[in-house]
Amino acid sequence: MNIVLVGMQWGDEGKGKVIDILSRKVDYIVRYQGGNNAGHTVVVGKQQYIFHLIPSGILHPGKICCIGNGVVIDPGVLLGELNDLRNNGIDFSRRFKVSTLAHLIMPYHKNLDQLRERRRKNKIGTTGRGIGPCYADKINRCGIRMIDLLNPGLFKDKLKDNLKEKNEIFKKVYQHPGFSFQKIYAEYLGYGKLFAPYICNTAALLNKAVRDKKDILLEGAQGTFLDIDFGTYPFVTSSSTISGGSCIGTGISPDKINKIIGVCKAYTTRVGEGPFPTEFAAEFGKIMRDKGNEFGATTGRPRRCGWFDAVIAKESVMLNGISELAIMKMDVLDGLDKVKICTSYKYKGKIFREFPGDLTVLSKAAPVYKQMPGWPNQRNKPRSFKQLHPNARAYLLELQKLLGVKITMVSVGSARKDTIFI
Ligand code: GDP
Ligand code: IMO
Ligand code: MG
Repeated sequence: MNIVLVGMQWGDEGKGKVIDILSRKVDYIVRYQGGNNAGHTVVVGKQQYIFHLIPSGILHPGKICCIGNGVVIDPGVLLGELNDLRNNGIDFSRRFKVSTLAHLIMPYHKNLDQLRERRRKNKIGTTGRGIGPCYADKINRCGIRMIDLLNPGLFKDKLKDNLKEKNEIFKKVYQHPGFSFQKIYAEYLGYGKLFAPYICNTAALLNKAVRDKKDILLEGAQGTFLDIDFGTYPFVTSSSTISGGSCIGTGISPDKINKIIGVCKAYTTRVGEGPFPTEFAAEFGKIMRDKGNEFGATTGRPRRCGWFDAVIAKESVMLNGISELAIMKMDVLDGLDKVKICTSYKYKGKIFREFPGDLTVLSKAAPVYKQMPGWPNQRNKPRSFKQLHPNARAYLLELQKLLGVKITMVSVGSARKDTIFI
């Protein structure tokens, strides 16, 4: 069984927790897009791990964890993450793999990301990790890939070529001194030596696994509305975050995918700029942010919070082909008098039941809500669907009805045990 897991909103839905739980049942866990703009949290007992590049299944001994060709890799961050694992006594030596074809985030990508962001009138609120500029170079056909680090001559030519153009841009456009070839060359060749044991043709590896009837879990990063095509452009990331991206980012063909799990919060959050119709007003937003501990796992920025938006979630079901839903952070809604679900938008007297193609509508529309009774704080964590408060059950059943997809998992806390399987 080959499963894709995607975020259905604007990221941070709790994908890391679900990946960790599902990892027990599969043989391979694979990241296929994005880079260290992602922050996937896994809580085991008192310990919290935040993974930016390494698949969230790595804590399970014996599971093979791959970074696919579609991911952009900051080698310094990858090295740091591998060292952290080693320091925590987690052995990955024979089960961590990274694609020869994955593109590398170079120091100039990070600076360019930050310099461009500073100059933009309409800021995106990027993570500043160099994601956009790295993907731009990939598409521009001047990117540097993992395999290049194993070929010093080729790497030298590519880096020289890049710096020739980029240093001029840095100096002339941004009044920045530019970058030294020698420093980057030496540093990155060093990474090449360290990563050599893990670099391989992951597409071949994964397709062999498919032939051998192994189970693969494809770990999405970000969320559907950060997708470069279908998201709230230009307030998006630079990769294909929808389920379709998993084939491009791994080399596994679409006919091998058996199931697509959509992860969404029982409410909505967003980090960075861009339209967010159901966003709470400031005061309530702060209360919910503190309750849900909604601060970015990568940048620490406060996340914007709002009610569940069934319009975007329905669009997400369509774009991803979601076959099962995991609803996360239900516990954060405990103790509210009422809860609301946005079922349509109203703009200039017109009702939009579907996701509007025109983003000015999304930016200016007023959400139309279905209001439901809330439920009290739970003294004990519910362990089954039946143990949930009747109003919480009614809320979940309403989400299920609106989205037309079965909820198979409800999360009521960050720990592994705080999970209800249906
Ligand atoms: P991801 O990027 O989708 O993996 O999500 P993040 O890790 O960035 O953010 C999710 C946060 O919510 C993390 O801090 C998780 O530990 C936490 N979390 C996950 N599920 C639950 C839940 O059901 N309840 C609560 N209260 N926290 C949760
Ligand atoms: P996970 O995988 C939430 C957002 C940034 C910004 C926009 C573009 O943890 O869910 P980028 O640095 O990618 O060019 O920034 O995308 N963003 C995320 N928001 N969760 C993420 O990842 C995100 N990765 C990027 O805040 O608005
Ligand atoms: Mg996150």
